[in-house]
Amino acid sequence: MSKGVIKKVAGPLVIAEGMRDANMFDVVRVSEQRLIGEIIEIHGDKASVQVYEETSGLGPGEPVESTGVPMSVELGPGLIGSIYDGIQRPLDAIMEVTGGNLLNRGVEVPSLKRDKKWEFVPTAQVGDKVTGGDIIGTVQETDVVQQKIMIPVGVAGTITYISAGEYTVTATVAVVTDDRGEEHPIGLMQKWPVRRGRPYKTKLSPDMPLVTGQRVIDTLFPIAKGGVAAVPGPFGSGKTVVQHQLAKWADADIVVYIGCGERGNEMTDVLNEFPELKDPKTGKSLMERTVLIANTSDMPVAAREASIYTGITIAEYFRDMGYSVALMADSTSRWAEALREMSGRLEEMPGEEGYPAYLGSRLAQFYERAGRVISLGSEGREGALSVIGAVSPAGGDISEPVTQATLRIVKVFWSLDSNLAYKRHFPAVNWLTSYSLYVDTMEKWFNAEVESDWTELRGRLMLLLQEEAELDEIVKLVGMDALSAPDRLKLEAARSIREDFLHQDAFHEVDTFTSLKKQHMMMMLVLAYYDQAGVALNKGVNIERLVNLPVRETIGRFKYTPEGELDKAYDNILDTLRIEIGDELSRKEDF
Ligand SMILES: Nc1ncnc2c1ncn2[C@@H]1O[C@H](COP(=O)(O)OP(=O)(O)O)[C@@H](O)[C@H]1O
Ligand SMILES: [Mg+2]
Repeated sequence: MSKGVIKKVAGPLVIAEGMRDANMFDVVRVSEQRLIGEIIEIHGDKASVQVYEETSGLGPGEPVESTGVPMSVELGPGLIGSIYDGIQRPLDAIMEVTGGNLLNRGVEVPSLKRDKKWEFVPTAQVGDKVTGGDIIGTVQETDVVQQKIMIPVGVAGTITYISAGEYTVTATVAVVTDDRGEEHPIGLMQKWPVRRGRPYKTKLSPDMPLVTGQRVIDTLFPIAKGGVAAVPGPFGSGKTVVQHQLAKWADADIVVYIGCGERGNEMTDVLNEFPELKDPKTGKSLMERTVLIANTSDMPVAAREASIYTGITIAEYFRDMGYSVALMADSTSRWAEALREMSGRLEEMPGEEGYPAYLGSRLAQFYERAGRVISLGSEGREGALSVIGAVSPAGGDISEPVTQATLRIVKVFWSLDSNLAYKRHFPAVNWLTSYSLYVDTMEKWFNAEVESDWTELRGRLMLLLQEEAELDEIVKLVGMDALSAPDRLKLEAARSIREDFLHQDAFHEVDTFTSLKKQHMMMMLVLAYYDQAGVALNKGVNIERLVNLPVRETIGRFKYTPEGELDKAYDNILDTLRIEIGDELSRKEDF
């Protein structure tokens, strides 16, 4: 263990001398107050330490001690339902120790409760040969989540002891004896360094969606299970609501939600709201399958830099158990600002807008940890980690470095638009600038699992929306009256796509979630109107009459039809449409 002294303090950065034997990313304890820090640079015997706590009052000459271990998280029962800070300190326990003062320093609280006992149910037995990633038993952590207890990476051998019972996370539940006769005690808890992705066997191709129940996402810009998406948008455009909707509705077993540098009150909303939120799938609190990481703007900036690694390591751990995990980070811009601040303190050569030149590679390293994988271990479980990052470019200007760097990495871009938000078209996802690069690889899945014409209908929706944008330009120049009747009808169909399909109220009890079956029906209804009105138009029916068909209102209200009543409502609307169009045709013939 390496001991040195403080040479200089610059905000969250401490330069220490006498650290020759320390390693990069080692956790250090700074000063007598034992503030927690991490070595982020070493030159000779000088180490640059990023300190995760307030450094005011520290000065040269005070001791700095390396612990010899890299920044790690504790993984095991007790994670679910926890609310951690950026370096996995449980906020509730810290509050207790410090009497609610988050700026109290040097507090040592374990990430996983040491006194709580968990019921361990073995699934392996003495004599079994095991390697890293093999499951040897389970712990029912919450009503909803069962943790699989896995052999830590790097351990292999034969189980020579395993016993059911109630254990704390530090107790030994099994022993693995390796080829050389060495015994490895296995507990319910393991540790993993946050800056290294947890290993897996193989990565699978992104060919199935993470279904979210959000129409503009699932139908137009779907994210793959194990995929990466970014939600950029100016203040108030709905980034946080999108993240919350995904936390609630995406078909993930586990949610890791990182509140990263947003205002304290926004995180308070999450802290208050999530425990209250009912998990629509289980009827229990959403917290029973959620881990929250909170690092608000009023908390130390360096811990914000660490928070996304802490979060993604926890997420990988559940992925390794064979779960579908969704990770949300709100917002990666605030994370990048923390990175920029540390880089400035290190006096590195600044890149664009003061961000370090390695901004892009750091972002890439983070997003690369997403994926659908076959995990280590002999059973070859399939797990997925999908990552959705909010980006908050100042003034909504997406040409700034963080958005641009993110764009180069992610495969899905849900571009939130202040104009749409202003018009209260929510989710304010701009359908012209957003995209999903997974559409082609997932086509097969949608056509096989939902309806065989899914891709075709989606394509027609996209085309109509694009044509609307072009027609809008013409209307601006020459006015609506100059449009041909078929073009008028096209605009009406596009309006219906926007208002009846894309617009989705997160706060309406039915509209908040739409199954894929219903999304398909909704596409069908909008297009059925367009197609049948088109035929009628060709036969000479007046465009105004087609625009004002009463059935259009019913099509618009279909989104409020509960999932259990879809078929009947759908058939009714199609019947009404046929009748109303038929009436128009015969009415015309009467003249
Ligand atoms: N899908 C939605 N349905 C209804 N209202 C929404 C939706 N998305 C956003 N809003 C409205 O917009 C407001 C701002 O959204 P928020 O997610 O807080 O923005 P941001 O995080 O981008 O600053 C919300 O409080 C809500 O009133
Ligand atoms: Mg927000």
